[in-house]
Amino acid sequence: MNGANMSARLKDKIICITGAASGIGRATALLMAREGALVVATDLQADTGAALAGEITQTGGRAIFLQHDVTDEDGWREVIAIIRARHGRLDVLVNNAGIGLSGPVVEMSLADWRRQTAVNLDGVFLGVKHGLPLLRQSGGGSVVNVSSIAGIKASANAAGYCATKAAVRQFTKAVALECAAAKDNVRVNSIHPGIVETAIWDSLIGTTQGARGTRLEALTAPSIPLGRTGTVEEIAAGILWLASDESRYVTGTELVIDGGRSIA
Ligand SMILES: NC(=O)c1ccc[n+]([C@@H]2O[C@H](COP(=O)([O-])OP(=O)(O)OC[C@H]3O[C@@H](n4cnc5c(N)ncnc54)[C@H](O)[C@@H]3O)[C@@H](O)[C@H]2O)c1
Repeated sequence: MNGANMSARLKDKIICITGAASGIGRATALLMAREGALVVATDLQADTGAALAGEITQTGGRAIFLQHDVTDEDGWREVIAIIRARHGRLDVLVNNAGIGLSGPVVEMSLADWRRQTAVNLDGVFLGVKHGLPLLRQSGGGSVVNVSSIAGIKASANAAGYCATKAAVRQFTKAVALECAAAKDNVRVNSIHPGIVETAIWDSLIGTTQGARGTRLEALTAPSIPLGRTGTVEEIAAGILWLASDESRYVTGTELVIDGGRSIA
């Protein structure tokens, strides 16, 4: 994180990323801080979230952590108010928090369906609804919504998850058009990771960290044209590009990072 490793692809940008305590969100927060951003990391998990912010600041980066449930509208009001008060602007919003529930559709309870939809879809809606005014007041910026290849290609036993991720994909395009029409200089894109080893898989394939990597690789690598699962850093690299000015002419797009799985 110190000077030697730091380039400046996000120099002095104020970035808010949800679900930052683990997996893809954590890797993205670390990468963005290394690229010069001030990272506002939010998550339900207070201990690991605070540890992430500590790790960034101890290595010369800038970060704060806010405990935040993305399904809570008042929580969003508070997060945006804190960013406005402390930093005066917002340049990038990464709606990354998500959960994955699997199983046959006839066995899914309505409560689980609603919980998954609340985190994966309502959370993205609320982020955009409350983040957009500050992005606009800052002169524009970038919203990156983390969907999944499950939002493009369906899988059995994941109907609810697929539905939420497909909704995020189309929501993103609709908001991109709304922002373009408003000439607000806000770009809105979705990112579609393939299979990446993180804690989200523990509930999906019944593992815990340790056994997870080997089991996930064995279950899924044969279906991936590039022959392996992805890494959190490979997804973070795509989010970074969509967040940075390098993608200034890109809006409403879906960036798939999946080793070719969704086209096979
Ligand atoms: N790992 C994959 O293979 C994969 C593939 C495609 C898409 N994704 C998506 O990537 C995103 C990140 O997932 P991950 O794989 O890093 O999983 P992860 O479980 O490691 O991280 C998800 C984070 O979201 C947080 N979170 C969950 N509910 C929340 C809530 N209500 N409010 C705030 N934070 C909450 C969790 O505490 C956790 O830190 C998710 O949207 C997921 O659907 C993951």
